[in-house]
Amino acid sequence: MKRAGLGLLLLLAGCTEPSAPADTGAELSRPEPLQSGSTFLQPDTRALQEDDFANPGMLWVERGEALFHEARDGHPACASCHEGEDTNLAGVAAHYPAIDDETGELMNIEARINACRTRHQSLEPLAYESEDLLALTAYVAELSRGEPIEVDISGAASPWFEKGRDYFFTRRGQLNLACTQCHDDNWGKQLRGDTISQGHGTGFPGYRLEWQTFGSLQRRLRDCDAGVRAEPLDYGSDDYLAVELYLAKRAEGLPLESPGVRR
Ligand code: HEC
Ligand code: HEC
Repeated sequence: MKRAGLGLLLLLAGCTEPSAPADTGAELSRPEPLQSGSTFLQPDTRALQEDDFANPGMLWVERGEALFHEARDGHPACASCHEGEDTNLAGVAAHYPAIDDETGELMNIEARINACRTRHQSLEPLAYESEDLLALTAYVAELSRGEPIEVDISGAASPWFEKGRDYFFTRRGQLNLACTQCHDDNWGKQLRGDTISQGHGTGFPGYRLEWQTFGSLQRRLRDCDAGVRAEPLDYGSDDYLAVELYLAKRAEGLPLESPGVRR
């Protein structure tokens, strides 16, 4: 760890309790002005994201597009249900996570794809971070590229939003830091070679140079938890799902930029 980074962490760990917004379901922290994570990247990394021919994430999008159109052994292709005027998936990912009408549960895009596999294709769900699930998620997300994020946090989604907000404001790990301390209070500052961004999920799923591969938003969240020396949660855990909803509400209005490229 670089000294500058350690200094900031110690400073943060020593400062007062993060101040959670008052406990009324709709409240959230929103950095001003709202800025995408790509704003804080080095110019060459940003250029990589902006060039579809150079953006390595486009390989997952293309693979996802192929999988989407593939029918296997009598299992209908995704495309067979999702290419109609009313059933196509353009813009859909910008409104996730969302409550599933059938079960009343909150689903992110990964969970929704798996629900379609089990419900409508008689296929097994795909594992988190498997190449196929990453590819399908990348494709579905890319169909919303440029669409402003807008999510519903009313009704059955409301307790999820509050759960996500709690996670965002709770100190954890050996460094005893909450998400809000870095991403609300210290964005724009340097930490371990990164400029801390506002912590929006809008570039994910995305390609991280550090991973040398493509990954989900939850993989990024696991890295942030590990960064404060907390035990990362399991993929698909209720807490991470809830955090995804909180992040989406907090990012509302920013365009979805997946496939993002990040350091
Ligand atoms: C010690 C400071 C720190 C804490 C605490 C922290 N993060 Fe991060 N986070 C970072 C850094 C550094 C990065 C990489 C640079 C950046 O901000 O995009 C990052 C990246 C992210 C990103 C990706 C942003 C992008 O555009 O690529 C998200 C989303 C995120 N954090 C969410 C969270 C959440 C949710 C929590 C709490 C569970 C959290 N972070 C806790 C420092 C922190
Ligand atoms: C046999 C038809 C069928 C197939 C095949 C199918 N889906 Fe679906 N999909 C649906 C229906 C119906 C819904 C509405 C929710 C529900 O009933 O499960 C839906 C909902 C969705 C949604 C959310 C749409 C929204 O507006 O919120 C996404 C994303 C999605 N499907 C992706 C996929 C992907 C990716 C595949 C292939 C892995 C797939 N679906 C295969 C029928 C299908």
